[in-house]
Amino acid sequence: MTTRPLRFITCGSVDDGKSTLIGRMLHESKCVFEDQMESLAKDSRQFGTQSGKVDFALLVDGLQAEREQGITIDVAYRFFSTPKRKFIVADTPGHEQYTRNMATGASTADLAILLVDARKGILTQTRRHARIVAMMGIRKVVLAINKMDLVGYEEATFRRITSEFEEVAAGLGIPSVMAIPLSALEGDNVVAPSGRTPWYGGLGLLGLLEGVALEEPLGSAPFRMPVQWINRPNAEFRGACGRIAQGRIRPKDPVRILPSGVETRVKEVLAWGGPQGGAEIGDSITLTFEDEVDVSRGDLLTSPEDAPQVADQFEANLIWMSEHPLVAGRPYLLKLHAKEVTATVTSIKHAVEVNTGAHGAARSLGLNEIGVVNLSLNQPVPFEPYATNRTLGSFILVDKLTFETVGAGMIQFALRRAMNIHWQALEVDRAARARLMGQKATCVWFTGLSGSGKSTLANLLDKRLHTEGKHTYILDGDNVRHGLNRDLGFTEADRVENIRRVAEVAKLMSDAGLIVLVAFISPFRSERRMARDLFPEGDFIEVFVDTPLEECERRDVKGLYAKARRGELRNFTGIDSAYEPPEHPELHLRAGESSLDSCVEAILKHLS
Ligand code: ADX
Repeated sequence: MTTRPLRFITCGSVDDGKSTLIGRMLHESKCVFEDQMESLAKDSRQFGTQSGKVDFALLVDGLQAEREQGITIDVAYRFFSTPKRKFIVADTPGHEQYTRNMATGASTADLAILLVDARKGILTQTRRHARIVAMMGIRKVVLAINKMDLVGYEEATFRRITSEFEEVAAGLGIPSVMAIPLSALEGDNVVAPSGRTPWYGGLGLLGLLEGVALEEPLGSAPFRMPVQWINRPNAEFRGACGRIAQGRIRPKDPVRILPSGVETRVKEVLAWGGPQGGAEIGDSITLTFEDEVDVSRGDLLTSPEDAPQVADQFEANLIWMSEHPLVAGRPYLLKLHAKEVTATVTSIKHAVEVNTGAHGAARSLGLNEIGVVNLSLNQPVPFEPYATNRTLGSFILVDKLTFETVGAGMIQFALRRAMNIHWQALEVDRAARARLMGQKATCVWFTGLSGSGKSTLANLLDKRLHTEGKHTYILDGDNVRHGLNRDLGFTEADRVENIRRVAEVAKLMSDAGLIVLVAFISPFRSERRMARDLFPEGDFIEVFVDTPLEECERRDVKGLYAKARRGELRNFTGIDSAYEPPEHPELHLRAGESSLDSCVEAILKHLS
């Protein structure tokens, strides 16, 4: 493997002289951009996905958030080199160092430069930058004390700021701080040591960056490779492709496939140019195996000794990246290395005040907020804690409907609890119970505005089914909210929980063989989708009771619309809380236009 570039991030604002500093470094290093382009082109031929064309994404892996749809992360990556080393600097616009941008830049960095103004010293902003840098696993920090010219190149000022920062760093567990007195404007200590700071015995910034030792401890750690895809050009060949995240591999080495746990041996290690004697961390390779084993995208290949944990519940640090706040209980898509699963935040343990580090209670997380959360996944995944391996311990959360990247997380540890609850296999199953009742267990899910006619329709349908000798049960929003869900109100989070519970109850009832009729506003697509996913294909029938808002409001059976209009009732669906109409319901009933009887007939027809 060629020596990899030093990746670093610069944190500070325009006022601190950040652009001047970067500009000067690029200029003084004579920034050999063509060189970079050449090696990038070479890497792209080797590993890229752009069929040989330059793949800039190769330089921007890590959290990969910026490669997802629907989100702009303001991070620019600049490449430059000196005769001694190549560099990639992640830069965010000075005034926009929001947490998500900084975290994205920091996720792949080896080192951070924190810029402070010698006249101002350590500010709240500096503490915030240090906190994010520490959280993102950066262990080396350069404290660049800039504008030394404005404080007369005074040693005492430099020492005072340095020791104040060392305390901050120690509190955050940052092991290495290198402080340097600078004047980006005058060029002091940017490239070479300056005569104006004779009391400073160290290197210039560029010299320091050239000399910093890169940590490669994972090169000798046990082998780990997430499977990105399975290459199967013809019936004879089947290879698992990916990039080594830890350790090294050679032909004949034993490997275990996770989560299945199946073991085999490597037959061939293939890379650009054919079979290899071996490969190591950072290499993109294809492996073939001695046995016919089942491997698929998202699996993790590991050495059998010291294999990583597999779990379906975690505690993690989570950075929220979306304008739309986190809703605990809502299913999101979780992408962890090459694996995609469904995950919900089961609890927000606390939010972290990013400026001070203070912990506070939180029911949600907004844009740029950070929290410590528990997550529950719909299947176990292999992982390493983020502190051990950034690639295998970081994940992103994606909105299931918009595909927007909404959060980025760092796994701290697995919660053992869930792994000890086993699914009890039951011998008399859903189908057997339903057969005894002479029916097919089904869930008919009515959704629509308050007053649209969901309950009325469910009642009529229930009566018809009952007279036909079917075994049924109605779960009605108003009723369930008097008992099981009496602790829930109408905030977005409460409605999500409301639907989660009733969906689980509906599932249990249909497992008991019943035909369950659910009449809840259930205003959000995500949760109706979650409910649907609990049932076997075809057993969930979504009925959209589509009555126009004006009509519901005209009826106003319970007088709630009037109250909401008067401002006496908050978060009322259709007034100041959203209703997301179904896109593909099994039945779309225009209850305002057709008679109730014909609506019931339509449902019965669908059921038979
Ligand atoms: S849901 O949105 O969480 O699915 P659910 O169906 O359980 O709602 O309850 C809706 C019923 O609660 C309405 O029919 C209405 O009678 C009552 N209600 C009270 N406050 C509200 C509100 N803010 N928004 C909607 N319905 C409300």
